[in-house]
Amino acid sequence: MPGLKRKACTAVIRGLLPWFLLTGIMLLLYCLTNPSQVKVRNLQEDTCPLVMAKASKESLKIPSQSVKPQADECAPKINIMFMKTHKTASSTILNILFRFGEKHELKFAFPDGRNDFFYPSPFLCSQVKDYTPGECFNVVCNHMRFDHQEVVKLLPPDAVYITILRDPVDLFESSFHYYHRAVPLTWRIIGEDKLSGFLNNPRAFYSPEAYNSFYLRNLLFFDFGFDNNLEADDPRVMTDIQNLSERFHLVLIAEYFEESLILLKDLLCWTMEDILYFKLNVRRSSSVSRLAPEMRAKALQWNGADWKLYQHFNATFWNRVEAYGTERMKRDVTKLLTRNAEMKSICIEGGGAVEAQKIQDRHFLPWQPVGEPSIMGYNLKKDIDPKFRKICEKMLTPELQYLSDLGVNLWVTRLWGWLKDTFY
Ligand SMILES: *[C@@H]1O[C@H](CO)[C@@H](O)[C@H](O)[C@H]1NC(C)=O
Ligand SMILES: *[C@@H]1O[C@H](CO)[C@@H](O)[C@H](O)[C@H]1NC(C)=O
Repeated sequence: MPGLKRKACTAVIRGLLPWFLLTGIMLLLYCLTNPSQVKVRNLQEDTCPLVMAKASKESLKIPSQSVKPQADECAPKINIMFMKTHKTASSTILNILFRFGEKHELKFAFPDGRNDFFYPSPFLCSQVKDYTPGECFNVVCNHMRFDHQEVVKLLPPDAVYITILRDPVDLFESSFHYYHRAVPLTWRIIGEDKLSGFLNNPRAFYSPEAYNSFYLRNLLFFDFGFDNNLEADDPRVMTDIQNLSERFHLVLIAEYFEESLILLKDLLCWTMEDILYFKLNVRRSSSVSRLAPEMRAKALQWNGADWKLYQHFNATFWNRVEAYGTERMKRDVTKLLTRNAEMKSICIEGGGAVEAQKIQDRHFLPWQPVGEPSIMGYNLKKDIDPKFRKICEKMLTPELQYLSDLGVNLWVTRLWGWLKDTFY
């Protein structure tokens, strides 16, 4: 028995060693690349003019549709802050924003060297690529830890603030799956089902100060810049939620994705073709843990602050659907589903998502979590109608490749990807 134990121990240590190494390298990279955290205030920064966009790019329009003005005329909104939360279908929204931005030649505030704004550090304007005080942008949409006072300096005053939430239990499950190998405090959890191991006694493993611990508790609260360790009944939870509801013009709900996009289209005065999409960054269903009701209850309690946040905005979301018109919403959702299905048959080989190993062109291969290639992707149809090729390619391009196409240098992200794939 002691021999067995020792064997198990060595196996664990051998498994962990690359992780200590990688974490060390990442910390070093992080320190080397993080710009100084000094806040520079400049009066000029607080007043962005209303930037005008140039004409639309023809190449990104969907060919079969002639451009008709909408029934009720309004100008499409082009100044947008999208707070990209983690594990909430936000990559699909990002693709929509990238396409819209390219079509209207909008100016994006991009990160430098990587695909996020030095997450999990709080956002600072100085993290924006080529930023100089007073510089203004149309769109901010990469991962960040939200700080309204900093974001507001980058955008014209009419910017529309949008974000997306997801059921915190499913979000927790997804975050645990995607990140647990990067959170050292989970390495001590013994057994196959680490998720249940954690939920059965989270306080035995969790510590707010531990490296990357925010991935395991109230991740939404953390992303919005709040304290993710508040207990659900702490009065600050409700003040923070109130705070957000004053900042954001629209909060989308991942579980009602089509309805969300219709509300988005309505608010931004966009067209139906602007919001067509293929679900990006989706996990194969076999890697999703179906939590038993008892475990769901535990996850919900553990993420109580996020749960309150989600319930608040789920309620306001449905009030807006009602204001939009329930029947009108149903009709528009059907239209969107129909148009999406058409695009699927035009663009996608086999008509649906495939496992990472079956993606032929690396340009369409999404980033994979550490240790498990569970994120699915698409193959572009071989005999694609040439006039649809461009739009199909854009719709299928994963986040990192699209950022590269838009001119973002991703050396830190790529180096991390290389280390991840080499060691695992
Ligand atoms: C909202 O939260 C931010 C960051 O915590 C804080 O600076 C700001 O004062 C809050 N605003 C309100 C209205 O509570
Ligand atoms: C969200 O709101 C809808 C409509 O009121 C309701 O049916 C659903 O149960 C709510 N979801 C949660 C998780 O509260």
